[in-house]
Amino acid sequence: MDKIKKIQNKKNKSKILCLTAYSKNFAEEVDKYVDIVLVGDSLGSVLYNYPSTKKVTLTEMINHSKSVRLGVKKSLMVVDMPYKTYVTKNQALKNAKNIIKKTKCDAVKLEGGKKIIKQIKFLIQNNIPVMGHLGLLPQSTKKFKSKGKTNKEIKQLINDSILLQESGVFAIVLECIKTPIAKKISQNLNIPTIGIGSSVHCDGQVLVTDDLIGLNQTNIKFVKKFLNVRKYINIGLRKFVSEVRSSKYPTKKHSY
Ligand code: KIV
Repeated sequence: MDKIKKIQNKKNKSKILCLTAYSKNFAEEVDKYVDIVLVGDSLGSVLYNYPSTKKVTLTEMINHSKSVRLGVKKSLMVVDMPYKTYVTKNQALKNAKNIIKKTKCDAVKLEGGKKIIKQIKFLIQNNIPVMGHLGLLPQSTKKFKSKGKTNKEIKQLINDSILLQESGVFAIVLECIKTPIAKKISQNLNIPTIGIGSSVHCDGQVLVTDDLIGLNQTNIKFVKKFLNVRKYINIGLRKFVSEVRSSKYPTKKHSY
């Protein structure tokens, strides 16, 4: 059974796990625990301090994804298509093919519903697996706020999720969607939903790895800091500094 079918079969049985990686060493560790490794365009803010993901380029996504590919052995590898790289269906196909050819990833992720449905359908018709993304769409908004509060928003989210499923996406990321709406969408669909800030009712969860291990410092509501990795980095760095200063390092063992 292919990786996508296996992930889809987990719906209503066991949780789907997805985490980001932007480089080989992180990918190697993340790959052991998840179903999906996502090269997210969140790398723009996490690694480059960009004010939004809009500044992330196709070249940056391809270079980071090439590195991630070296570390991913078993999981499905999904790459975010960056801002303005899928404005028309032909542009979307050209760029998605380029991403897949250069990075050997398994699928791409695009942000949006009805507005980009032509692009999504065209990619899928051309045998490119697509992951959807609804709710808070970092490529189209500056404000960080939850979605699914007004009747108009709720209707749009539900309609978009159905449209995406009908177009053939294999799963949908639901970002910052109010709990009852995320629950309703997840129950309505046959394909899995992967939540981020969208409650426990989604079929799986995704987080930015740098956030959950406390490497990236953020106070976003949905981030739980499962570890303070900076503490351990500092222990190692202090030991290095101390041993160099006291000439304890390098010993003969570490010298040629
Ligand atoms: O860019 C990203 O990392 C994402 C996830 C947070 C879903 O899109």
